[in-house]
Amino acid sequence: SDTDKGTYPYYMLKEIDEQPNVMRKLSSEYLNEDGSPEIEEDLLKSIKQADRLYIVAAGTSYHAGLVGKNLFETMAQIPTEVHVASEFAYNMPLLSKNPFFIFLSQSGETADSREVLVNVSKAGYKSLTITNVAKSTLSRESNYTLLLHAGPEISVASTKAYTAQIAVEAILAKGLGEADQIKAATEFNLRQQLGLVATGMQTIVDEKEKMNQLSKDYFVNASKSFYIGRGIDYFVSLEAALKLKEISYIHAEGFASGELKHGTIALIEDKTPVIGIITQKNTSNLTRSNLEETMARGSKAITIVTKALAKEDDDIIIPDVNSMLTPLLSVIPAQLLAYYTSLNKGLDVDHPRNLAKSVTVQ
Ligand code: G6P
Repeated sequence: SDTDKGTYPYYMLKEIDEQPNVMRKLSSEYLNEDGSPEIEEDLLKSIKQADRLYIVAAGTSYHAGLVGKNLFETMAQIPTEVHVASEFAYNMPLLSKNPFFIFLSQSGETADSREVLVNVSKAGYKSLTITNVAKSTLSRESNYTLLLHAGPEISVASTKAYTAQIAVEAILAKGLGEADQIKAATEFNLRQQLGLVATGMQTIVDEKEKMNQLSKDYFVNASKSFYIGRGIDYFVSLEAALKLKEISYIHAEGFASGELKHGTIALIEDKTPVIGIITQKNTSNLTRSNLEETMARGSKAITIVTKALAKEDDDIIIPDVNSMLTPLLSVIPAQLLAYYTSLNKGLDVDHPRNLAKSVTVQ
């Protein structure tokens, strides 16, 4: 059943493996025969009246929000800001004239996000909650809900909720853009792309053993590590580093690869693992040279690269999909690296110390 581990040693691995099916499920739940999103008219209208989107979330959901910014700005052409809920609640930026709020929350119960929702509702602003749990607090208290349809996520480290959140953001962004005849949306074949994503995810999860080996070779004995990238590859780096920290207790940092040289590169020592995420054509050479700069200081560089940008020596090659959707694939090797590092260190993968699945205190 949904809440049964079956033959899996840990829920996390089961949930990583479920991601291709979640992509297919979202495609069938939200896209009609022509591949157009079916989203309630009222929600689209409500967002259309806004001059700016404010995505508010915590933890992994915040990282999914960062990836969403590019989707909303490209396909729907609506300026989008992404905020950490606990910060936004008490240090609210100057809002635009007509803001619309999007809450991303796997559980729909995070107290930090709810605090923001209560405040913006009081101020009369409309909001949407994108969540995995129907009738959760955030879902009940906001004007609209879109469900993640990912099935129960039990492991504390979030995996399938992250990719489902990005996919739902893409669906919503396309729905909004289509309503305005924006080419970036109308010409984007999302159904085909989600199909490619599902197949691509399957290819990566079928290569688990490779990530297990990399984990043994470079991570199990590491005390610190870095994920680097630019643009959406940077946003995935943040999530990749969080996964590793949460369950392997290795200090990991996600970094904008160009910013490394302005201070943080001082931390690179002999064999420090530095993983470069390279999926965007316009920045691939830059990130590669930033990786080389760390190698010159002794790092063990590992690359996660799309097939189109791959070179002979690359370590993890992921299938090609539309450049807006590469986070759906580039995050999977990082989830698996975190999983195997935790496992190989003999830790309790699903129940890391000091963490809870959902945090209902501020
Ligand atoms: C907790 C969990 C994280 C999660 C965050 C936000 O800290 O350990 O995995 O990303 O809460 O949770 P939410 O349910 O709002 O997405």
